[in-house]
Amino acid sequence: MDQAPLIDTFGRIHDNLRISVTDRCNIRCFYCMPEEGIQFQPRAEILSFEEIARFARVAASLGVTKLRITGGEPLVRKNLPHLVELLADIPGIRDIALTTNGVLLKELARPLRDAGLGRVNVHLDTLDRERFLQITRRDDLGRVLEGIDAALALGIPMKLNAVAVKGLVEEDLAPLAEFGRERGIEVRYIEFMPLDARGIWDRSGVLTADEILAILGEKIGPLDEIPERDLRAPATEYAFRDGIGRVGFIASISKPFCGNCNRIRLTADGHLRYCLFAIDETDVKSLLRGDAPDSEIADTIRRTVMAKWAGHSINSSQFVAPPRPMYAIGG
Ligand code: 5AD
Ligand code: SF4
Repeated sequence: MDQAPLIDTFGRIHDNLRISVTDRCNIRCFYCMPEEGIQFQPRAEILSFEEIARFARVAASLGVTKLRITGGEPLVRKNLPHLVELLADIPGIRDIALTTNGVLLKELARPLRDAGLGRVNVHLDTLDRERFLQITRRDDLGRVLEGIDAALALGIPMKLNAVAVKGLVEEDLAPLAEFGRERGIEVRYIEFMPLDARGIWDRSGVLTADEILAILGEKIGPLDEIPERDLRAPATEYAFRDGIGRVGFIASISKPFCGNCNRIRLTADGHLRYCLFAIDETDVKSLLRGDAPDSEIADTIRRTVMAKWAGHSINSSQFVAPPRPMYAIGG
């Protein structure tokens, strides 16, 4: 790092950049995308790998050490391993992770690993084929499971992300945790957030971390909170008392973790966001495509971080859902 770290007005140091590489997806999770009529960004608006890598290089010069590639579904972007290679070459980058729905992971796990991918989070809400179809409107559970197996066979460290919607996935919680326990993978249950395209979110649809814990405790066995966890990580982690495996909770609604946030996000169309729920974002594409020097990009990153709010205040009456849905922001 050549310069002072990326620190905001609340003293939070930002070392984590999430990069969305596409707003497209090959499945249609109802809490993220509508079934039809989605307006995707025209391809010309999407940053090229070279533009993304340049941005990441500047961010790394400001102290960013961790990258996560997201979408939409990042594996639908052609030649993604090449981007991983470019990112892995950047001085200061210590960790490159990926969030994927796993549908294309079987084919891509090896090239991604060879390119320098360090870790993967696979989005999987259920092991039940019918419910998978109901949630994603696609019959791809088998492919996701093959993708998980392929990545595990290569020894890629993995977590599972399960979005928990009340009245829908209660029956799936314990089978997923057991699946993880058998394979040594942590399952992270994510509280349903107001990020869908059509405004279907409602507080009554949130299955909270405490509710999930109670169900797992009853169906599998007691769990204990892991005390010495990384405070900057969004998940609260619990270990099963029988010593086999752990689970995590991204309790964005019931226990917001904004106070420790270290993340900034680059959208596929080249806008920088200081929060998943931010209303404002900064256009960096025009800098990347104009002849702006790196110093101007660095200043823009600094200014965006300085403008960061304390938190998303989902639980306040003041909360306004972001103008873009999850797939257009990047998980
Ligand atoms: N609420 C919570 N999590 C969501 N995701 C997508 N939409 C929502 C939502 N409305 C999650 C998916 C994906 C991650 C990037 O975001 O699980 O893994
Ligand atoms: Fe695709 Fe992820 Fe949205 Fe599901 S949550 S539709 S996998 S982008």
